[in-house]
Amino acid sequence: MSQPPPITDDLERIAAEAGERLAAAADAGAVDALRQDLLGRSGRLTALLRRLGSVPPQERPAIGQRANEVRRELEAAIEARLDELRGTDLDERLASEAIDMSAPGRPVPIGHLHPVQTLMRDLREIFHAFGFEVFEGPEVETEEYNFELLNIPPDHPARDLWDTLFVAEPGSVEAGDPKPAADGTILRTHTSPVQLRAMRALDAPIRVLTPGRCFRYEAVDASHGFEFFQIEGLVVDRDTSLADLKGMLEEIARALYGRDVRTRFRPGYYPFTEPSVAFDIGCLVCGGDGCPACKRSGWMTILGAGMVHPTVLRNGGFDPAEYQGYAFGMGPDRMTMLRHGIGDIRLFFSADARFATQFAEGR
Ligand code: PHE
Repeated sequence: MSQPPPITDDLERIAAEAGERLAAAADAGAVDALRQDLLGRSGRLTALLRRLGSVPPQERPAIGQRANEVRRELEAAIEARLDELRGTDLDERLASEAIDMSAPGRPVPIGHLHPVQTLMRDLREIFHAFGFEVFEGPEVETEEYNFELLNIPPDHPARDLWDTLFVAEPGSVEAGDPKPAADGTILRTHTSPVQLRAMRALDAPIRVLTPGRCFRYEAVDASHGFEFFQIEGLVVDRDTSLADLKGMLEEIARALYGRDVRTRFRPGYYPFTEPSVAFDIGCLVCGGDGCPACKRSGWMTILGAGMVHPTVLRNGGFDPAEYQGYAFGMGPDRMTMLRHGIGDIRLFFSADARFATQFAEGR
């Protein structure tokens, strides 16, 4: 038996090595370089085939056949490896890129209204149905509008009901001697001054709602903020009575807290209404049995109200012999606390996302 010629060994070595080198080629470029190295013009297989002439004639056909086989195998292996790297296997590619069209979309965080704003919007809607239009006034007011025109003269003890934040006289803070502004500019302590602005701007019949921010020099605690909202209501017309006020407020309470809400009126005092009342609803936390939230009384006050004082009507340009009116001032912060069972008013201004995001349902 003659020894297999060395050219056969070389051929088998090329075939064996090519498999390993192909598997190691990490990208199409590496595969192409390998193709050149094996099958290119000066590639190893090409060079080997050139040596065929030196093989004895009787051995040539078998070796030539094997060499062609190896070439075809290499070409096929190279294409397969390229396919693998390109990921051109369609089924596989589709499987890897598949999208579940039925999967729920990812929520886009878009924020939502603060619960106090939601309640104020609800109130606007309810009052809109009763024919009220929104009439806004300035947050920085004059003492005249905030007090005098509301029948609270400068030395009236009722001013103590409102702990006022004064705007400083220009330059007095810098001079180290802060003084209230000489023109009597203050931060409004309630929305009632807008009663006067509305009466002076509009003709009867008047039905306005005044939502807005108010400020008081308060020691802040769980139920008092130095910055809070009020919504004032004012009606001026002929033949307006306390019965109208009563009916209106009872309807509002039902619209806001449900048909079963219990209500009561108590005598109250405000210099700008006569008579004055406080309006309570049955405690929503305990249902009226008495709990810490309602200070064990079973009732919670949500607003102050009354018939517009004749002096205030006159200051607004109306003759009290011809016109009457009623007014009420609601506390939306307090009303929101009742609505959601929130125990501390400071949470409203806490900017704590854990608090705020609980009201994402709000419009
Ligand atoms: N302005 C009053 C307050 O801030 C509330 C009020 C408004 C009372 C209108 C009567 C009429 O306490």
